[in-house]
Amino acid sequence: MSPLHVTRTLPEDATDAALRADVRDGLTADPKTLPPKWFYDARGSDLFERITELPEYYPTRAEREILLARAGEIAAASGARTLIELGSGSSEKTRHLIDALTSLAAYVPVDVSESALTQAGRALIAERPGLEVHALIADFTAPLALPRTPGPRLVAFLGGTIGNLLPAERAEFLALVRSQLAPGDGLLLGTDLVKDEGVLVRAYDDAAGVTAAFNKNVLAVVNRELGADFEPDAFDHVARWDPEREWIEMRLRARIAQTVKVPALDLAVDFAAGEELRTEVSAKFRRDGIAAELAAAGLELTHWWTDAEDRFALSLSVLR
Ligand SMILES: C[S@@+](CC[C@H](N)C(=O)[O-])C[C@H]1O[C@@H](n2cnc3c(N)ncnc32)[C@H](O)[C@@H]1O
Repeated sequence: MSPLHVTRTLPEDATDAALRADVRDGLTADPKTLPPKWFYDARGSDLFERITELPEYYPTRAEREILLARAGEIAAASGARTLIELGSGSSEKTRHLIDALTSLAAYVPVDVSESALTQAGRALIAERPGLEVHALIADFTAPLALPRTPGPRLVAFLGGTIGNLLPAERAEFLALVRSQLAPGDGLLLGTDLVKDEGVLVRAYDDAAGVTAAFNKNVLAVVNRELGADFEPDAFDHVARWDPEREWIEMRLRARIAQTVKVPALDLAVDFAAGEELRTEVSAKFRRDGIAAELAAAGLELTHWWTDAEDRFALSLSVLR
């Protein structure tokens, strides 16, 4: 069995500095925000896995359906020898792709969540002893120090995670991905599609309250890492569809007026009763829009696959 290679390209203190900067900027902004990457400590990653199994959360099932049906076509079109997966989490659905990529030499999962990466990496090398797994603990919005592995490369960005980036961030991100590809390399992108508002809102506000617990986990991360005194029960989970921007917003709404102290930043943050803190945007897409965004980054959309109910799409783009 090959060993699991784990590289941390984010030093511990860089993560800490990034968290401090994001929390200071976000909690002093109007309206207040926190970026979604801070949901994913070990508990947050576990909660996300539970979300993927909820009856209301269709994206994971829809994307798996497409991967199961199309993995052979994706493999034939990409011929990838290295699969790089951004925001890989548990790498659960990716197994269908790994199995279909018969010439695959290396799998490079990239995630900020060390616990998710090491669990997934260990399971994969045990299941597929010939596969080289190079796990990168890194932020995919910054240039990656990719290992020297054979091309062509296929970059997979699944789960609709691209929707968590704001439009300007998406443009920067796609340009960055493109800059790390060579001609003949590809991008396999999972995008959730615009659909009925009720279906969308329920996917982010499930009856069992798992998404609410996931949302509030960001407060627990800020409490633990920066000594803050957020009281998670003093906030309500809110999921709302914005029909103009075509995105879901997750927010935390203060139940009562309160002041939260963040000692590591020497900061006291006032919340009015009912004030909302935005914790995640999850944009939903249409084919023309995403094709145009890809084209603007120099990527040509060559394949577009959806599930039987047209809820979710996987697209393949190549660099000519
Ligand atoms: C919505 S989950 C999707 C997980 C998996 N790809 C799936 O489809 O089920 C987003 C994943 O991206 C990771 N993530 C979020 N922001 C990130 C960032 N800026 N850099 C690297 N990983 C990030 C999270 O830790 C999490 O594993």
